[in-house]
Amino acid sequence: MPVGAFPRVDGALHAEGVPLGVIAAAVGTPCYVYSANSIRARYQQLAQAFASVPHRIHFAMKANSSLAILRLLHELGAGVDIVSGGELYRAHEAGFAGVDVVFSGVGKTAREIDAALDARVQLINIESEAELVTVAALARRRGVVAPVALRINPEVTVDTPHAYIKTGEKGQKFGIPRDDVERIGALIHELPNVALRGLGMHLGSQIANADPMREALPRLLQAIAVMRAQGHELQCMDVGGGLAVPYAPGDPEADVDEYARLVRDAVSASGLSLVLEPGRFIVAESGVLLTEVLYRKHAAGKDFVVTDAAMNDLMRPALYQAYHGIVPINITEGTVIADVVGPVCESGDFYAKQRELPDVQAGALLAVLTTGAYGYTMASNYNSRTRPAEVLVDADRFAVITERERYEDLVRLERAHLQWRTA
Ligand SMILES: Cc1ncc(COP(=O)(O)O)c(C=O)c1O
Repeated sequence: MPVGAFPRVDGALHAEGVPLGVIAAAVGTPCYVYSANSIRARYQQLAQAFASVPHRIHFAMKANSSLAILRLLHELGAGVDIVSGGELYRAHEAGFAGVDVVFSGVGKTAREIDAALDARVQLINIESEAELVTVAALARRRGVVAPVALRINPEVTVDTPHAYIKTGEKGQKFGIPRDDVERIGALIHELPNVALRGLGMHLGSQIANADPMREALPRLLQAIAVMRAQGHELQCMDVGGGLAVPYAPGDPEADVDEYARLVRDAVSASGLSLVLEPGRFIVAESGVLLTEVLYRKHAAGKDFVVTDAAMNDLMRPALYQAYHGIVPINITEGTVIADVVGPVCESGDFYAKQRELPDVQAGALLAVLTTGAYGYTMASNYNSRTRPAEVLVDADRFAVITERERYEDLVRLERAHLQWRTA
């Protein structure tokens, strides 16, 4: 965790200089709390690692797309990697221009592609021949040339902690199979409204070890050589995101130095500029989810800690069996082995199973750690629960950046009086 993000001062857990108990009292629970300086530190760490090559960090905003976080990264000079028209809208709201945007994703709709062309995004990352043809047709209709990159699937073995976050292996829905790249490069020459500006890849998420990148980069360079031999004037290579952060005790940290060295060497060999798409690495450890213990329960020989936060607030344990550290805000005597569960009517609604924890009682505050990435962005209204508030801490100040939803918000889009239509 970046130094100073969530220190314990006189027994009380803080976010930078602000006691988390003060935030819980002011804003209520559950709420996400982010450390601005820790996000800055992670961004700078990457920017420095790549300082010697022309590069741009396009934050993968699916990890955390709250406007205040995006504005903070915009101020630092980041661009964004988007995967939907909604993310493009958010990026604009946060101050990003089209040139700051690369557009990824395997299923872009015509409406989204049109919006991206109108915004003059820097790159549309193409994932299939069918998508390429669609982009070409839409660009032609608008009388523009779409700048595209081909996302290749380098087909390397990736050792991620959960199968759902692998993307760069053979047989995944992502990317263009290596064998098809030459044919698609030739096809681009027949499409005057498309200009091939780059080649890219994304190997998966939570990759701690540099081996997959070591294996994949030569394949990317080879594809670059093939495209150049076909006469394409490339400008950039995109290595995606995927740098790991530690969640559980003993989890490895990403080897940023080795990763950066490998990528820098490939960038120098290519003579292109580099696009990076990190998400989790920049924000995951910069966030905690604050929750209050509602009840202690003992049933069938087991202890349960029932919290006011649930799977709808943080999906990762239910979706990926993900581990998140859980610590009390105030030091608590004794320990208990318990399941930490939320109020949602699903047995998948847990944050920890049979975990040794401080013996917290009802009313205690807990911080669920490493929840700055894929936390709030995956939150839902399941069980008609309002989504939590989000708070940003910067040194000794804090501000609500997203209000807690209200019950009225839950039904805002629903119609009281139905306007029936017939076929
Ligand atoms: C195309 C692409 N780029 C970047 C990312 C960000 O990955 P991470 O948050 O692991 O850095 C993802 C994650 O799914 C992705 O699909």
